[in-house]
Amino acid sequence: MENKELVANALSKALDNELSVEDILPKIERPKDSKMGDLAFPTFILAKKFRKAPQQIAADVVEKIDQSSFDHVEAAGPYVNFFLDKSNFSEDVLSAVLEQKENYGQNEDGKGGNVTIDMSSPNIAKPISMGHLRSTVIGNSVAEILRKNGYNPIKDNHLGDWGTQFGKLITAYLMWGNEEDVKKDPINNLVKYYVKFHKIDKEQPELDDVARDWFRKLENGDEQATKLWKWFREVSLEAFGEIYDKLGITFDTYNGEAFYNDKLQDVVDSLQEKGLLSKSQGATIVDLQKYDLNPALILKSDGASLYITRDIATAIYRDKTYHPAMNLYVVGSEQTYYFKQLKAVLMEMGVPSAKNLHHIPFGLITVNGKKLSTRSGRIILLDEVLNESIAIAKKQIAEKNPDLPNKEEVAKEVGVGAIVFGDLKNEKINNIDFNLEDQLRFEGETGPYVQYARARAESILRKAGDIDFSNVDKKLNDAESWNVIKLLNDFPARVKMACDEFEPSVIAKYSLRLAKSFNKYYAHTKILDDDDQRDARLALVKSVSIVLKESLRLLGVKAPDEM
Ligand code: ARG
Repeated sequence: MENKELVANALSKALDNELSVEDILPKIERPKDSKMGDLAFPTFILAKKFRKAPQQIAADVVEKIDQSSFDHVEAAGPYVNFFLDKSNFSEDVLSAVLEQKENYGQNEDGKGGNVTIDMSSPNIAKPISMGHLRSTVIGNSVAEILRKNGYNPIKDNHLGDWGTQFGKLITAYLMWGNEEDVKKDPINNLVKYYVKFHKIDKEQPELDDVARDWFRKLENGDEQATKLWKWFREVSLEAFGEIYDKLGITFDTYNGEAFYNDKLQDVVDSLQEKGLLSKSQGATIVDLQKYDLNPALILKSDGASLYITRDIATAIYRDKTYHPAMNLYVVGSEQTYYFKQLKAVLMEMGVPSAKNLHHIPFGLITVNGKKLSTRSGRIILLDEVLNESIAIAKKQIAEKNPDLPNKEEVAKEVGVGAIVFGDLKNEKINNIDFNLEDQLRFEGETGPYVQYARARAESILRKAGDIDFSNVDKKLNDAESWNVIKLLNDFPARVKMACDEFEPSVIAKYSLRLAKSFNKYYAHTKILDDDDQRDARLALVKSVSIVLKESLRLLGVKAPDEM
């Protein structure tokens, strides 16, 4: 029986079934301070019913309750505090982890419902930025967390592959472009043309007209314009793909903005039919006063569609294709207002999944204090950051473990893992400044620290040899193992919490706590000593390894067996 149920059962009996087990279960708390027990029940909720002071109720309950399944039960003010029987608890928790392995913590709350996750979504012909990195790694982790909670995530890369900027890019390429250069280093060269265009069009504003013409041609399917656009898209995707490969992240669909071009007229027609459109200074808008928001601009005065027009089409397409239980957008917090407008328009249109549209915002990221921007030219390329991180990891491994056979692979897992973990350990909304050296330390709140704790567990298990844990008595009751076991027991609840809050940092912080308590255990305990608790200790080590690896997997971080 689960501990909460054990407690609820005992309480219900002690209260002469005045409260049912189901009534009691949600009221049981987990005290922050373990001096207050492992689980606690507040009695003030019964004061009215029993017409007694809560302190008195707590004392009476302790008097009556059957304590045989617990270490002991205490009254403390208006609380009944339960101290679990360590041996039984340890047996339960370790058995659960070792039986369920990587499925430990899995629940079916999501009932298989589809969840669309709009993530990464970089812009074609521009470098993928650290902001897009955040969207990619947060989105990927949220997807895995959702899957662990019984949902079916659908990761969609909503590429910025349409818009007037392509008119500018085509214009710039035709003036200064060179095919060979683009083939060699696509993103850098395309950005160069784009930056040059922006410099020059200040003095030659007529260039803007040329660019507008090119975009119109592109919209009308002009052969030359389409060919260039396709090419820019293709080479950009190849460059992005290298980074996704390095991160080990895949997508289910790459339906960029352009994918919705043939669906925009339907959007406009439908808005029209529903009487939601009005004109303002020649432009076509949806009034959102009712939501206390500025109007959403649907068509410019020249009839051109906008970012939001394509996003409305996207949301409707997702709604019809997947009937999503939730439609999520992992996009920086600078677009918060925009997503409020988008949601409001979809609500007005009566799109069923609109009420379950959530923007998952996140803060800015800087690297060693430097900001990222495309136009100013001071660009920090994500690829460079990843490569540098891998290089530092390689150096560290060469010093720490020179005989490691697969150094290259491990350096990649540690270097990339450090960046991903360094991002995800922060609550999403916080701005973060990244110091690569810090994130790569083997001590402190880092990915490598967690990876290293797990590799240490694996190394102990290798030394111990093969053990069939199903027949092992897993009763441990010393203080150090107790902390580890309580944390292991906490994992399923953390998985739920991370899901409810769309917050990977819940898992990252949890993994740091578990790694830390395991390291303490390791320092204080002679795990491999040949006494009658040896296999029980190894069961704990194996359980820690399983849960640390699974936590890292939920974050999108690899767990090397040796490092
Ligand atoms: N491409 C956009 C940018 O880089 C992000 C797109 C986010 N997704 C969306 N459906 N609007 O800012």
